[in-house]
Amino acid sequence: MTDLYAVFGNPITHSKSPRIHAAFAAQTGADIRYEARLAPLDDFAGAVRRFMAEGGRGANVTVPFKEAAFRLCDSLSPRARLAGAVNTLSLEAGHIRGDNTDGAGLVRDIETNLGFALAGRRILLLGAGGAARGVILPLLENQPAQLRIANRSPAKAAALAAAFAPDTRCPIAGGSFAELAGQAFDLVINATSASLGGAALPLPDGLYAPGALAYDMMYGQGETPFLTQARAAGASRRADGLGMLVEQAAEAFLIWRGIRPETGALLAQLRRELQAATPA
Ligand code: ATR
Repeated sequence: MTDLYAVFGNPITHSKSPRIHAAFAAQTGADIRYEARLAPLDDFAGAVRRFMAEGGRGANVTVPFKEAAFRLCDSLSPRARLAGAVNTLSLEAGHIRGDNTDGAGLVRDIETNLGFALAGRRILLLGAGGAARGVILPLLENQPAQLRIANRSPAKAAALAAAFAPDTRCPIAGGSFAELAGQAFDLVINATSASLGGAALPLPDGLYAPGALAYDMMYGQGETPFLTQARAAGASRRADGLGMLVEQAAEAFLIWRGIRPETGALLAQLRRELQAATPA
C-alpha cells in the first residue's frame, strides 16, 4: 500500500519538497506519495487533522507554520523542544510526534557537502527568529570555539544566547550588529529574513577571517543578496541554503522510512536547474 506524506505551508506552490521526496523514494524503492498542501493561515491544525483522517503517515511543515506545528504535537524530540519549532511530523494511530531536522540539515550541508568542519570555529549567527533558534543546538553539538548571535533587535539575540548559555560546550553571547566591530569569524550564517525585503544587513567591516565561509540559509536564482554582500566583504567561501533544504529533507526521510537517502546527485541536479533558470 502506498504511504501518504505531504508538506504544509502557505504559500506552497513553489515548494521543492515533493520533488525531493519523490527522488528519495525512487532511489530507496519506497512506495510513497508526497504532496504539497496549502494549509489555511488560520487553521493549520485542521489541515493536519484532515490529512491524518486520510491516512497521512508524515508531513513536513514550512513557513509560516513551524511554531503552530510545535504547539500541535503530542510528543516532541529533544531537538524540536529546544528549537521551539517543528518541521517534521510523524503520524501514527492518532498521535502526532514532532521533530526538527533543519539544524541537522544545516550541519550536514556545511560539514559533509562543503567539507567545512565546525569544531574549533568561531561562528556568527545572524538573526534571532525561529530559523536561527532551530539551528543553535546542532551547531553547539559540533564543538565550535564560540557562538555569537547578532540581531537587528539586540535584546532578542541576547535572550536567545541566554537560553542556550547553560550549554557549557562553548561560550555563547548575543547582541547587536554594531557590537560585532573588531571581531572576526570563521563561519557567518544568515538566518534573517532581511533579503526577502531586499534589505542589506548593517554589518561592520572585517567580519570574515581568512578562509571564512559565509552561509545563507536562504537560496534563490543566482547569488543571494547576503552572499553578494559577503563576497564584497571578503568572504572567501560562500554557500546558499539549497543544500540545507535537501539535507533537512533527507533527515526527515530517515525518520519516516529508516533509511538515509543519498543527496549528492539530487543536489547537483537542483543546482543545475536553478542556474539554468537564472536570468543573465
Ligand atoms: P524566521 O522564522 O524566518 O526566523 P522570524 O522569526 O520572523 O522568521 O525572524 C526573522 C528574523 O529576520 C529576525 O531575526 C529579524 O530581526 P528582528 O528580530 O529584529 O525582527 C530578522 N530580520 C527581518 N528583516 C530584517 C531586516 N530588514 N534587517 C535585519 N534583520 C531582519
